[in-house]
Amino acid sequence: MIIKAYAKINLTLDIVGILPNGFHGLRSIMAPVSLCDHITIEKSNTLQFDCNIKSLCSDDNLCIRAANAFFQESGISERVSIYLQKNIPFPAGLGGGSADAAAILKGLNSLFGNPLTQQQLFNLGAKLGSDVPICMHGSVALCEGRGEILTPLSGVPKLNIVIAIGGERLSTPLVFKAYDNANLPVQNDTDNFITALGQSDTTALINACGNAFEPVVDKLCPETTQIRSKLLALGALNARLSGSGPSVYGIFQTESDAVNAVTQLQNMGYSAYNCKIM
Ligand code: C5P
Repeated sequence: MIIKAYAKINLTLDIVGILPNGFHGLRSIMAPVSLCDHITIEKSNTLQFDCNIKSLCSDDNLCIRAANAFFQESGISERVSIYLQKNIPFPAGLGGGSADAAAILKGLNSLFGNPLTQQQLFNLGAKLGSDVPICMHGSVALCEGRGEILTPLSGVPKLNIVIAIGGERLSTPLVFKAYDNANLPVQNDTDNFITALGQSDTTALINACGNAFEPVVDKLCPETTQIRSKLLALGALNARLSGSGPSVYGIFQTESDAVNAVTQLQNMGYSAYNCKIM
């Protein structure tokens, strides 16, 4: 069985406080996009894992943790071999590890005849990581709480997206900490986005995209600011940070504008990908 594990971008990301469990309370519109990893799963006597990127072949990889969680919950004694073809940059704020975990949970359930209910799968996913629920959901949603309280949003246009990233990488906990220390006012991009969506106003919806981490990530990783400026210069209608970064995305009017921007960014030495909101 070959399955696709789709990345996500944060069209908005507002931080609205600290939760009793210590995580940050989010109000974020998350959108799965067509950039994906490919995962091959085959039944086997022992749990095996391999990846095209050897540094990811460790027992704490989310693929292994998701598979172990599935087998423990279902009581199934058979095991699988998993091969991960990693295409989504990491760590990047694109939910790549969460996408893999979500795809493994859903794939294993299907491979073994659906022993777990959707709710059981969702609960397992939510324990594995804050972005796993949106990756399991598979289409645009308002994500609240730690990220696990989902309200599906219909009618979001299938926007043309360019994802770009430079050489630097950032640690998510470090970015949350820097955000806490910065004492920034709470943004309400999410409410603006939802209002624009209700009015079918695509221009306002694109303008409402934003990310509360940008002021701190601009300082921690100035390359993100430069790439956002380059995306705008290449014709992006808006260009924002995704998650805790350092990947950024631009929204383009047409697919050919997006393809052209990818070529230009790659010529400048950045990794760049053309994709669409799912
Ligand atoms: O859930 P995940 O493993 O993606 O979270 C990584 C880290 O990001 C957490 O350990 C926490 O420091 C931070 N985080 C947070 N609030 C969230 C999501 C993540 O503080 N809602």
